[in-house]
Amino acid sequence: MIIKNQIIFIGGGNMAQAIITGLISCNVDKSNIFVADTDQDKRAEVETKFSIKTTKKILTLSENAIVILATKPDQIHKVCEEISSQLNSQIIISIAAGVQLSQIQKYLKGYDQIIRTMPNLVAQIQKSITAAYAHPNINDRNKLIVDYILNTFGDCIWLEDEKKLDAVTAISGSGPAYVFYFLQIIIQAGEEIGLSSSESQKLALKMLQGSAQFAERNISDLETIILNVTSKGGTTEQALKYFKNHSFNKIIKGAINAAYTRAKEIGEK
Ligand SMILES: NC(=O)c1ccc[n+]([C@@H]2O[C@H](COP(=O)([O-])OP(=O)(O)OC[C@H]3O[C@@H](n4cnc5c(N)ncnc54)[C@H](OP(=O)(O)O)[C@@H]3O)[C@@H](O)[C@H]2O)c1
Repeated sequence: MIIKNQIIFIGGGNMAQAIITGLISCNVDKSNIFVADTDQDKRAEVETKFSIKTTKKILTLSENAIVILATKPDQIHKVCEEISSQLNSQIIISIAAGVQLSQIQKYLKGYDQIIRTMPNLVAQIQKSITAAYAHPNINDRNKLIVDYILNTFGDCIWLEDEKKLDAVTAISGSGPAYVFYFLQIIIQAGEEIGLSSSESQKLALKMLQGSAQFAERNISDLETIILNVTSKGGTTEQALKYFKNHSFNKIIKGAINAAYTRAKEIGEK
């Protein structure tokens, strides 16, 4: 599919830039991508990085425009009000955590060609896993276009129940930061037991990449993989015992629950 639509990002921050990187590497024509951002420095950054057009104020939307709402959740109301009078056949994609589709529709004065999504930061290297929920009135053509766009920066799953997006936010939306944090701790631990920084970084990173790829082979039975790599009386067993004795599972689940609760709170505002 060749996307000829005007693609307008409202908000040109981390996530917008991650998605733009994915779009451009999938040969979406740069001249069709625009960013509206109130922050002058952000606009300069986007222009230098991608050579695409930016504006302070939201543009006049063409009839086939795809508008990506990429500001922080607390700005969504304002930006929706700014564009609502222009909407007739455009597609609206929201990436804002917690902001419900019914709220967006209300802010857009009833306009319903909306898809709510939750991508993640690794969209930048086209590895996002994005979950999407479409307004029940979305037309098939618009859904197909959005599916194509979401797949330019990774993989995509469609949800039948919007409520699940808060759980998605807590797992894969915020998830890359958990992994970076975990990786950072492993690297520090390696240094503390005698490895150089570069040795520890390379070992930890390659271990994580390889383990994730290996887990794909049997993701539904990780228990067996763990058993297979844990010999009795060995080193892995000692580390796993330590995790269990120190309630590592509670810490991980507690952190994910904290993110989930926060996503729900944002939606209730
Ligand atoms: N970061 C993630 O990993 C992640 C993952 C999934 C989803 N999300 C969602 O993605 C959205 C954006 O997050 P982010 O991390 O990219 O935020 P960000 O880096 O702060 O970018 C948002 C940009 O929008 C600008 N802005 C604020 N109000 C505006 C307005 N009225 N019109 C135009 N631009 C405006 C901001 O400028 P100022 O800085 O001057 O306010 C900022 O440059 C959030 O809703 C978040 O929930 C983020």
